[in-house]
Amino acid sequence: MSGTNETIVLVGFMGTGKSSVSRLLARQLQLPCIDLDAEIERQEGRAIREMFAEAGEEAFRELESRVLDMILQSEGGKIIATGGGAVLREQNRNAMLKHGWVIALTADADKIVARVKNDTSRPLLQGDVEKRVAALLEERRHAYDFVHDIVDTTLLDSEEVASQILSMKEQRQ
Ligand code: S3P
Repeated sequence: MSGTNETIVLVGFMGTGKSSVSRLLARQLQLPCIDLDAEIERQEGRAIREMFAEAGEEAFRELESRVLDMILQSEGGKIIATGGGAVLREQNRNAMLKHGWVIALTADADKIVARVKNDTSRPLLQGDVEKRVAALLEERRHAYDFVHDIVDTTLLDSEEVASQILSMKEQRQ
């Protein structure tokens, strides 16, 4: 799918800037911005941290797939920021590829750790953040391989990432 109002789906590890870049892209392209994690929290009426603690990761993943599907199927172009683990299920990957232009934001481990180290809202990063990031990055080494395009954000701020995506978009049309 390509065109002026195409849906853009941002995927990538925690701390790669998906949410902030999605807001900038939405503003520039005058499209609605949907943050999958925020939408799940809104629908469930509780924080993701609480969902993991009370219902477990598998229950969260079920919800994540259901809400992602609903967002992808809804009318009109939009910018979607997904959670880092939304790429783990094949059904999610297929749905994203079918409905949008899927871009992975990547970053070096050090940069990710610097960005997430003081955050208590991410259940998968509790404890020794450096070790958790290293283990999950290794586990998810190929999880983002399915995408249409990749932007390495290690040396870029959110504005620079957004403008890089906008230039890529110009070239797609
Ligand atoms: C997760 C990433 C989080 C959130 C949840 C699980 C993951 O989103 O969905 O804590 O499995 O990588 P962000 O990537 O926005 O932090």
